[in-house]
Amino acid sequence: MLPDHELDRRLAVAISVAREAGALARRWFERRGELVIEHKGRQDFVSEADREVEALIRQRLQGALPEDGFLGEESGGAPGESFWAVDPIDGTTNFLRGIPLYAVSLAFVHERETLVGVVYVPPTDRLFQGVRGRGAEVDGRALRVSACARLEDALVGIGSSQRVAPAALAEVFRALYLGPVDLRRLGSAATALAFVADGTLDAFFEAHLSPWDALAGLLLVREAGGWTSDFAAGEGLARGNAALACAPALRDELARITRVMG
Ligand code: IPD
Ligand code: CA
Repeated sequence: MLPDHELDRRLAVAISVAREAGALARRWFERRGELVIEHKGRQDFVSEADREVEALIRQRLQGALPEDGFLGEESGGAPGESFWAVDPIDGTTNFLRGIPLYAVSLAFVHERETLVGVVYVPPTDRLFQGVRGRGAEVDGRALRVSACARLEDALVGIGSSQRVAPAALAEVFRALYLGPVDLRRLGSAATALAFVADGTLDAFFEAHLSPWDALAGLLLVREAGGWTSDFAAGEGLARGNAALACAPALRDELARITRVMG
């Protein structure tokens, strides 16, 4: 664990960088027709906006905190003892198609534990922040997960990607619908996790997320009193993992349905 002043310093930098990066993303969103869209894989896109926003974040973090490492969705890196996991635009497909739901996600990880998490959602100008052991808030209001205790009352966020076989995705959707729960696929995992932290959603599940998608939002959920699966388990910090986050009373049933251990 780092001393408090080291966490305060990192939180302040992360908030300022997330707002600056979000403002740049918002300007690109308004001019998204000018962007050249490239394929990273099937249904997986990237544009100059993602790269430019990540380059800005990288430059600002390295300027303020040169001792910290960096792992970004677009420019890569590796998890070290202390590093930032950065998603410049989480929800790239939403962004490029003009759906106003995307986020900048920054997580500071030290000795395999996420200590600081910031998720900034430019379209609504909401900034979610959390520090391990100190709680989480959105724009000055403390975050608290929902009190939902029954699956049939639950609204559950779900994500999917080409990283998971279609048959396995279909099985998870089927199991959740039979739960029975109602589902929302928002297209930005970081935003969906922030929504679990503030009680808008009762849970979120995705069979595979990358560290930059997940780490900040998962910290918010834990600091808001929720339960999360052990994302760092195994090679999670380098290769990603399944992610389940939920109101505590839903933990056992959702973990059984989604078969996530943690
Ligand atoms: C994606 C989004 C999406 C999730 C995918 C992620 P990106 O991130 O978070 O909601 O379902 O697994 O890859 O590509 O928009 O940064
Ligand atoms: Ca992402």
